Amino acid sequence: MPSEHVLPLSADGVLKLAAQSMFDLFAQTAMGMMVVDRGHRIVWISEGYKRFLPALGFEREGDFVGKRVEEVVPNTLMNQVIETGRPILVDLLTNKAGTFLVSRLPLRDDEGRVIGAVGLVLMDHPESTMQPLMTKFSRLQRELEDAQRQLAAQRRPKYTIASFIGASAAALEVKRQARRVAGTDSTVLLLGDTGTGKELLAHAIHAASARAAAPFVTVNIAAVPETLLEAEFFGVVPGAYTGADRKGRDGKFVLADRGTLFLDEIGDMPLPLQAKLLRALQEQEVEPLGSNRVRKVDVRVIAATSRDLSAMVAQGVFRADLYYRLHVLPIRLPRLADRLEDLEPLADALLDDIARRSGLPHKALASDAMELLAQHRWPGNIRELRNVLEQAALMTDDLVLGARHLALDAAPASAPAASAEAAAPVATSAAGAPRKRLPQAIAELEMRAIREALTATGGNKLAAAKLLGISRATLYEKLGAADDPAQ
Ligand SMILES: Nc1ncnc2c1ncn2[C@@H]1O[C@H](COP(=O)(O)OP(=O)(O)OP(=O)(O)O)[C@@H](O)[C@H]1O
Ligand SMILES: [Mg+2]
Repeated sequence: MPSEHVLPLSADGVLKLAAQSMFDLFAQTAMGMMVVDRGHRIVWISEGYKRFLPALGFEREGDFVGKRVEEVVPNTLMNQVIETGRPILVDLLTNKAGTFLVSRLPLRDDEGRVIGAVGLVLMDHPESTMQPLMTKFSRLQRELEDAQRQLAAQRRPKYTIASFIGASAAALEVKRQARRVAGTDSTVLLLGDTGTGKELLAHAIHAASARAAAPFVTVNIAAVPETLLEAEFFGVVPGAYTGADRKGRDGKFVLADRGTLFLDEIGDMPLPLQAKLLRALQEQEVEPLGSNRVRKVDVRVIAATSRDLSAMVAQGVFRADLYYRLHVLPIRLPRLADRLEDLEPLADALLDDIARRSGLPHKALASDAMELLAQHRWPGNIRELRNVLEQAALMTDDLVLGARHLALDAAPASAPAASAEAAAPVATSAAGAPRKRLPQAIAELEMRAIREALTATGGNKLAAAKLLGISRATLYEKLGAADDPAQ
């Protein structure tokens, strides 16, 4: 019988033939078809697929074939099919070329290894044939776009360079430097004591830069546990972890793509991660956890710290190469005590802001209040000023705040050490004989310093720890050891 010769004898052969026939059938009848190799490169497209090229921005097949599929087909999941080896039998793909009903299947070699994937466009304009599904789909898409818009609005900068109040020579110099660096794409390092306005200035530089319309993303390095920092920076691929992170998540570098990444408290960066951060800064690419593939990003970094980075380099706790990389454009923010002529405009602006946010009427400062403010040392800088004014404004219904409303001890600016002694004669009596045992005296002195720091920072423990020159962990330890110390 001739039919014996038409079909190959083995089951394997039959299957191969069936696969070949199905492939040809799909290639002819599907609206479009493409084959992508292991490395995500498009190796072949069907005749039908060519009709989509103009809408994807390509005139010639030769410019399209050979490219990585995720670079030329927005929102494609072909790469995911290759990575997971799992097919996506039916899906809707929307991009600039339209919305399509698509199917994606992995291709395997004889050993079962994924060697690529085939993608089918089953239908274009599915909206006409799949009306109910499409209605739901467009509603979900609208909701998604709304949510994305809201998120973008939240990430938009809160401050401009004009929000950095001050007309002293030191403040004007800061603003001049901020405007200058805003015009560049280089890394900026903001140095200055706690509460001097580093975060405000970072927002302002972004807002004045060409990246203003793109996201401003912050990582507060001191606030993220060390074990989570790497994922926070670089992201996690799906399946790298079990549990909550199973789905994978983008890192802050990717979220800040085309925008600005603000690395707050860079001095708290753990040493092992410093090398990885340096690499990301230099190469402008990141490698998510669980992946062996790098992803390009376009991110301008602004870093800030109140710690003495050059001393940390000398001590070997901060990498010199990272330091020099960050130190390209340093801006040093002056302490409030070094620009007291700005006290009045600052107080005015802060009282305005406090009124706006609290809904209370605007309050003014009496001259005795101004005098008292001018005598203070301001270890917590402008944050401390804000806290003092806010507390006073909320404590009274009076529209003019006098010295009596301000919770400030009148320690003279020039003699901080002497005043601390005068205010805390804990260890000796007037006659000079010890009244207390040394450990108790030290503990009391410590608690007093901590309380003062917490008042200066409005209860912000991280800032208070910085002010005291101790780590946050040490502060918590000391607070935990005392009876209700935050009072
Ligand atoms: N020049 C300024 N003009 C107006 N407000 C300011 C100025 N500088 C700082 N502030 C205000 O002071 C507060 C503290 O500023 P910011 O958070 O930017 O300080 P920081 O330098 O980041 O401090 P830290 O090192 O403790 O994080 C904020 O409420 C900010 O709006
Ligand atoms: Mg800050």
